[in-house]
Amino acid sequence: MTTSNFDQLSLYVWEGKVDIYDRVVQCMSAFDVDVVHADGRPLPEDPFINQWAIAVISVTAIESGRLTLNPEMLKGVPVVWVGASARDRDAQIYPPEYLHVLPYDFTGAELRGMIAKLARQLRAHSTRIDEEEVFVARSACMLELLEEARTFANCDHNVLIRGETGVGKERIAQLLHNGHEMYAKGPFVAVNCGAIPDGLFESLFFGHAKGSFTGAVHAHKGYFEQATGGTLFLDEIGDLPRYQQVKLLRVLEDNAVTRIGSTTSIRLDFRLVSATNRDLREMVRSGDFRSDLFYRLAVIELQVPNLEQRGEEDKIAIFKSHVQSVLQGKDGLGDEVPFWLTELVASMEYPGNVRQLRNVAERVGVIVRQTGRWDQALIQRALEPVRDMTPANAAGHPADLADRRRWDGNERNRIIAALNQHGWKRQDAAQHLGISRKVLWEKMRKYQINDGEPGIPDIAGA
Ligand SMILES: Nc1ncnc2c1ncn2[C@@H]1O[C@H](COP(=O)(O)OP(=O)(O)OP(=O)(O)O)[C@@H](O)[C@H]1O
Ligand SMILES: [Mg+2]
Repeated sequence: MTTSNFDQLSLYVWEGKVDIYDRVVQCMSAFDVDVVHADGRPLPEDPFINQWAIAVISVTAIESGRLTLNPEMLKGVPVVWVGASARDRDAQIYPPEYLHVLPYDFTGAELRGMIAKLARQLRAHSTRIDEEEVFVARSACMLELLEEARTFANCDHNVLIRGETGVGKERIAQLLHNGHEMYAKGPFVAVNCGAIPDGLFESLFFGHAKGSFTGAVHAHKGYFEQATGGTLFLDEIGDLPRYQQVKLLRVLEDNAVTRIGSTTSIRLDFRLVSATNRDLREMVRSGDFRSDLFYRLAVIELQVPNLEQRGEEDKIAIFKSHVQSVLQGKDGLGDEVPFWLTELVASMEYPGNVRQLRNVAERVGVIVRQTGRWDQALIQRALEPVRDMTPANAAGHPADLADRRRWDGNERNRIIAALNQHGWKRQDAAQHLGISRKVLWEKMRKYQINDGEPGIPDIAGA
């Protein structure tokens, strides 16, 4: 048992009629643990506090009616029950859902032993990096990215992961975390920068000292401190408003943080990984993102390719892998995805990338599970909405892949024609084509269209 097992923990004590709170405080006094007297109060709303919380509940609190236990209140926080009687009394009186029970006269060692065990489980859970989930990568561009990620995983430089929505940026961040020989042992703290309520940035990132404002009944570590010894993953960093960018930058420059209401500055020690689906360079140019922060975050940049760039091989592999996991236990069905289905899956486009493709696989898997067979008509009908959204299909449903490739050629020409007609102004061409500027830009990349390329002047049908 090490001190770090207890680090960041909050213990919420519902003591009922007896002096359990004081004893817990005493037993844990040598460690950096928040012990909160929770009688009459629910757990705080903040899931980042609760992920490191353990409840210590005296059964007398329930018996005396001072606490009505509902699972909603505990929000999945593990519970140590303290019995109403001393150890020589029968411990079997507790129902089986009371997994962790201490006698009323528990010793400090017993309490610490049990808390340490639960803390280890919490930590193992929080750094569980979907190891049992496969990370599918077959295409050359994806293998290259993995190679790059592997190379940079075990260094301390800040990494910025770029890529469209659903391409797997968070999975890559977790791979980086796992690959660091030291930080992998610490927590992986993921923060969605697009969801920080106004006015809460400081409290959430810096933490606050006990009593620093009304309602601050106990001290709270901010995200920076929570990530100590591990990885701080700043997701959707492009959504961080400018006034919050300044605050983030200052902390990164100082490499230290001071909790609100405290004067002690705490040194930071974590690996910083950020991710965005926005074009941060463009945002720097337009003044929406601070350039100094950008250069600090993007010491190393990793670009995750989208599914179209990854190609049919990856689409099929991801689909099969996920369908198989849905069909686990259904003998034989998982191994034999029929050819017509792989062709269909490969021919569709997925603007929501891997996430959307996995949803498609899920839907198919459920159908096959329920019907016990690969029902072509049923599955095709279920996939129609996605199929209809695929640009190639939207314009006349090409029957097979050869047709699709011909269509692709036509699409390239139509795009060049639209750009020509609008003097290569992308905004106008995109509008003409009925697509967003971003999609136009992606298609230009996909078809390797360079500015000013000679094309077909006829725009008919575009
Ligand atoms: N290579 C992969 N193999 C298997 N599953 C993957 C792979 N990449 C991503 N996924 C799965 O796809 C889903 C989306 O991944 P993730 O959340 O990492 O994407 P993201 O780029 O962070 O998305 P967003 O921009 O919406 O935040 C997750 O369920 C993830 O497990
Ligand atoms: Mg994400």
